[in-house]
Amino acid sequence: MTTSPGHFAHGLAERLTTTRIGRRVFAFDELDSTNTYALDHGEDGAVYVAERQTAGRGRFNRQWLSKGGVGLWFTVALENAPEGLVYTAALAVRDGAAPDCALAIKWPNDLLYNKRKVCGILVEQREHLTALGIGINVRQQPGDFPPELREKASSLEHESGRTIDRAALLQRVLTDLDQKIMLLEQGSAAALRSEWAAACNLAGRRVQCGDTRGTVLDIDEAGALHLETTEGRVRLLSGDLTFLDGA
Ligand code: BTN
Repeated sequence: MTTSPGHFAHGLAERLTTTRIGRRVFAFDELDSTNTYALDHGEDGAVYVAERQTAGRGRFNRQWLSKGGVGLWFTVALENAPEGLVYTAALAVRDGAAPDCALAIKWPNDLLYNKRKVCGILVEQREHLTALGIGINVRQQPGDFPPELREKASSLEHESGRTIDRAALLQRVLTDLDQKIMLLEQGSAAALRSEWAAACNLAGRRVQCGDTRGTVLDIDEAGALHLETTEGRVRLLSGDLTFLDGA
């Protein structure tokens, strides 16, 4: 394990009892992006953690704010990753955080706390290598976010009023992810997908995604959303949802 004693993830690999992921943990003070690093250097099952990222990125090529000391910015590298990683990772973050915080999943894979986003997941692929990047806002206060994000984004500590140990949280998320990835690889994708679809809690909701507005009918085997719209049934594989029915 390549960590310096001062790093919050120091000693993590030795504490982990995982099988598939996290036997090697590489912890950095700074990276441009843990996903970029994993795609360039990734070895199967390794975890790359950065205290801060200078070019953290989110879905749709958006910037992901990744200051030092306030978050968990990490990537799991997987060779020949099983299908279903996106929803499996959302469940693992929810369950790993559960002792401290009750998170909700917003389709497809944002984690919300009190309706504010506290975690985002970015899955990227280069040939047979998959980078599963997870960013969890742990300690930010509202002033740490730009004004336009303050209503939408928050952190676990701010919403819960509790102190969160980042190393312990990372250990729990990786442990849960390891178990769920093994279930996926053993053929339990359908059960995990159903659990995730139920957690998204979307049936009957009025939503907007880009220019498309409609009522959610269901989520199919690929995790795509089916909407009833004025133009008929529309299938969405990903996107940013806005709820039109307020709740
Ligand atoms: C999103 O919601 O748009 C996804 C955000 C993903 C952020 C994480 S932080 C660790 C990893 N490295 C990155 O550059 N991005 C992901």
